[in-house]
Amino acid sequence: MSIITATTNVKEPTSVLARFTLKGKKAVVTGAAGGIGRATSMAFAELGADVAIVDIPEKLEKSQKVAEEIAKRYGVKTIAVGTDVSSKESVDHMVEEVVAAFGTIDVVHSNAGIGAHGDGPDMDLEHWNKMLSVNLTGVMLVDTACANVMKAHKHGGSIINTASLSAHIINPPYKDAPAITCYTTCKAGVLHLTKSLALNYAKYGIRVNSISPGYIWSGLHQGLPSERCDFEESTVPVGHFGSLDDVTGPVALLATDLGAYMVGTDILFDGGVTIY
Ligand SMILES: NC(=O)c1ccc[n+]([C@@H]2O[C@H](COP(=O)([O-])OP(=O)(O)OC[C@H]3O[C@@H](n4cnc5c(N)ncnc54)[C@H](O)[C@@H]3O)[C@@H](O)[C@H]2O)c1
Repeated sequence: MSIITATTNVKEPTSVLARFTLKGKKAVVTGAAGGIGRATSMAFAELGADVAIVDIPEKLEKSQKVAEEIAKRYGVKTIAVGTDVSSKESVDHMVEEVVAAFGTIDVVHSNAGIGAHGDGPDMDLEHWNKMLSVNLTGVMLVDTACANVMKAHKHGGSIINTASLSAHIINPPYKDAPAITCYTTCKAGVLHLTKSLALNYAKYGIRVNSISPGYIWSGLHQGLPSERCDFEESTVPVGHFGSLDDVTGPVALLATDLGAYMVGTDILFDGGVTIY
């Protein structure tokens, strides 16, 4: 039996900054006409990636504006694609378009999602199915279609799914409203989907991880009563909502080689909400 001495064959650490890059990479971001997706698209572009701005066909014009804005600001290539992530046909078509434009896919932020209006145990089945199809099935369809490109092109990649603090707790209900039921179920599903895909794809060099943002001041809050937002804010130990800047850091970490050993994990950043 040989004894391993701690200092034998330990690789020297390399530059952190040199690993914090996406130069030459090709990225896909879903929900990219919205608050968080636009922000992470900008972060990927700033780090050197070409970015496909993916959102529902109804927002194609907005997606095109985001794509133009990012291309101009960061000097990368961008395309806008109108896609419904809950439709396999639509997702497969989006992936074909991205590969035709960029050649391949290295980084994915599977982020499209819809909010919890009317959510609760007695919600319409139609509403329940719609949320599941976007927030959970949509993530699976985008991840698997993009991973199949990475596998075929034999270069690995990084896939980041947007879960939520609602994947970890049931949000405290506002006044007499029911505790949200479907949104939390979808987002908890995203955590396990992430782990399963991570296990399936690790051997191909494809890392799948998730982020769990807390209350981020962004598009998802449009249409909510301000009193409800005040209530949510009052549950945050740091005393305020998170910003888009609070999201881009964790996503950039997972996307680049700085997160090279992060596989099937979740990064939760919520200003302390889930402490208690
Ligand atoms: N804002 C928050 O407080 C918060 C907290 C935790 C998690 N999240 C999650 O972050 C993600 C982004 O949220 P946001 O705040 O940026 O919301 P947002 O409404 O600004 O953006 C979401 C985008 O997803 C798009 N989208 C909806 N359905 C789609 C579909 N079927 N196909 C393609 N795109 C579709 C919308 O058009 C929209 O542009 C969501 O998954 C949300 O659940 C948000």
